[in-house]
Amino acid sequence: MFPKTPPMGFNTWNTFGENISDEMIRQTADAMVEKGLQAAGYEYLVIDDCWSKRQRDPVTDKIVPDPVKFPNGMKAVSDYVHEKGLKFGMYSCVGVRTCADYPGSFDHEFLDAATFAEYGADYLKYDYCYRPDKTNGELLYRKMSMALKASGRDILLSACNWGCDDVHRWIRSTGAGLYRSTGDIIDNFVSFRDIFLSQLDNFVYSAPGCFNDMDMLTVGMYSRGNVGSTGCTDLEYRTQFSLWCMFGIPLMLGCDVRDINDVTLKLVTNPNLLRINQDIECRPPFIARECDNNRRNAYGRVLSDNELAIMFTNLSDDRDTSLWLPFENLGLPIASGKGLRVRDAFTGEDKGVFKEYMKQALEPHDCAVYIAQIVDV
Ligand code: GAL
Repeated sequence: MFPKTPPMGFNTWNTFGENISDEMIRQTADAMVEKGLQAAGYEYLVIDDCWSKRQRDPVTDKIVPDPVKFPNGMKAVSDYVHEKGLKFGMYSCVGVRTCADYPGSFDHEFLDAATFAEYGADYLKYDYCYRPDKTNGELLYRKMSMALKASGRDILLSACNWGCDDVHRWIRSTGAGLYRSTGDIIDNFVSFRDIFLSQLDNFVYSAPGCFNDMDMLTVGMYSRGNVGSTGCTDLEYRTQFSLWCMFGIPLMLGCDVRDINDVTLKLVTNPNLLRINQDIECRPPFIARECDNNRRNAYGRVLSDNELAIMFTNLSDDRDTSLWLPFENLGLPIASGKGLRVRDAFTGEDKGVFKEYMKQALEPHDCAVYIAQIVDV
């Protein structure tokens, strides 16, 4: 499966951890449709770790869904998700066990891929725990990719090896559609800031077909759930979501979408931010101005339809910041006689025409995002 733009959906791990069930998945599918998330593009509903029994079936050797959590089996859940017009995602691991100590797919790749295809899976998140020593991680991703292709179903492979083993150098060649590039996110500002900063040199590897995945969003979790931590303010969640959008990262919601609040819903369905994230050209952003060890930067990103995204960040705790971006740094010198008509991505408001430069004041942890068009000045 070759995703043309960053995949979007929901994953159970951040909020639910092992507390997943048939009922909770169905309610989530309902919520994704009723709240307009599906209409905004969130199409995958992915069940993460902890869905199976602790051991394989002794006769068939297959992984077996936990009969308490999923009393109707997985096909029934998958059918329900499909009836809602959503796509269904499963989870396994390259190792002998999953990270939460359930059966992994090592040496069972083709059997398990066939099982996921029987369930009607459209997506497989494939983790990296309990890999036997001296085995080759790259080869194990190749194997599962082949197994999924051999299953006869078009299943998107979502690699999750946390950025180890120079993954960005080889993952595209395996056939995976996205790849986790960092360790696990937890729900606080420093966690997502450091994940983002760690990838500044790697976005260039992200392109149609295979996207750099900085992990599921914690937006809207407010410290609740499995990776709860201290939580973030709404302003910090807006910065997280904006970074994920600006940098073309897969958008997998991690909050409980059944009781998502209005602020979060408005943010994650913001048409301007999603337009940037889903831009068909999938170009990497560039640093247009660097300051304070990349804490206070300006970024540019060439979009389709002659548009340009501009983002200012203040990822520092510094209150006294005013960021200055000369358009020369975007490749638009004053001598060109051109300037930028700019609209605010958060509000859609037309901010007018700027020439030569923009200046942006930002509170700590805040950001600003604009969509711009070249105009005569
Ligand atoms: C981690 C992975 C998380 C989650 C967890 C499940 O390795 O990075 O996203 O899937 O395992 O145990």
